[in-house]
Amino acid sequence: MQIWAIANQKGGVGKTTSTLCLARGLAESARQVLLVDLDPHASMTRAFNVPRHPVPLGTHELFSADAPSLDALARTTPIDGLRLLAAQPGLATLERRSATQPGLGMALQRALANVTHLYDYALLDCPPTLSLLMVNALAAADRLVVPTQTDPLALHGLADMLHTAEMVETSRRRPLARFVLPTLFDRRTALGQQSLELLHGLYAGRVWPDAVPMDARLRDARAIAANAPLTGAGAEAYRQALAWLLVQPPATSPQSQAA
Ligand SMILES: Nc1ncnc2c1ncn2[C@@H]1O[C@H](COP(=O)(O)OP(=O)(O)OP(=O)(O)O)[C@@H](O)[C@H]1O
Ligand SMILES: [Mg+2]
Repeated sequence: MQIWAIANQKGGVGKTTSTLCLARGLAESARQVLLVDLDPHASMTRAFNVPRHPVPLGTHELFSADAPSLDALARTTPIDGLRLLAAQPGLATLERRSATQPGLGMALQRALANVTHLYDYALLDCPPTLSLLMVNALAAADRLVVPTQTDPLALHGLADMLHTAEMVETSRRRPLARFVLPTLFDRRTALGQQSLELLHGLYAGRVWPDAVPMDARLRDARAIAANAPLTGAGAEAYRQALAWLLVQPPATSPQSQAA
């Protein structure tokens, strides 16, 4: 099983949309995929219409002392090959608990280690904050995919995220391959074009050579999470991005100097 964290400390850059579209692409090619919603706001969980009440079992349970097996917590989705670990608002309280409960930073990695034989990929949809949940994702991941909005301010968020990844890589002593996925690209604006050029200049070789365009059909996550064909320029762009990601070599040594 390969574990991909989809993360950016900046909000609204397309993390959840990217997670869903990449997962759908993997499922289309008959891979078994586990989606893990690590965001207390639970956008991905909502996209799958998981009821809020009673509070669903899911990600939060992984952090309890007597955690059930992850597989027992994962729920089926309408899409063949995709299973979901639902997020709950209670995840927001984890930060406080971590002060008194050591080892919470590795809970996800431990849980995923028990299901490697069941899935080909685990995709982790991260919250937009440098939190215990993000640290869990980065500690567990083989790859980090950073969706980055193509505007100049978003580039600061990307630099922060890559710096965090570098620190995690150093502390876990295992390489973390990182890739940049330009999103929400507006071809008509000079600012979009300039930002894209800047991205390639700064992070050559790590950036998917194209960009996911603005596409109204990607605006409703529930449509992406439904069992209907995904069409349109945005969905097609994500298929191409996935094909590119799949042929990128794993990191064999720390990438710290290059990012
Ligand atoms: N390519 C796109 N074209 C049009 N709308 C998009 C596209 N990608 C994402 N969106 C929309 O932009 C908004 C932010 O996207 P998304 O929720 O995926 O970002 P996020 O990084 O997960 O946000 P958060 O930080 O709040 O978790 C959503 O309303 C989403 O539907
Ligand atoms: Mg999100």
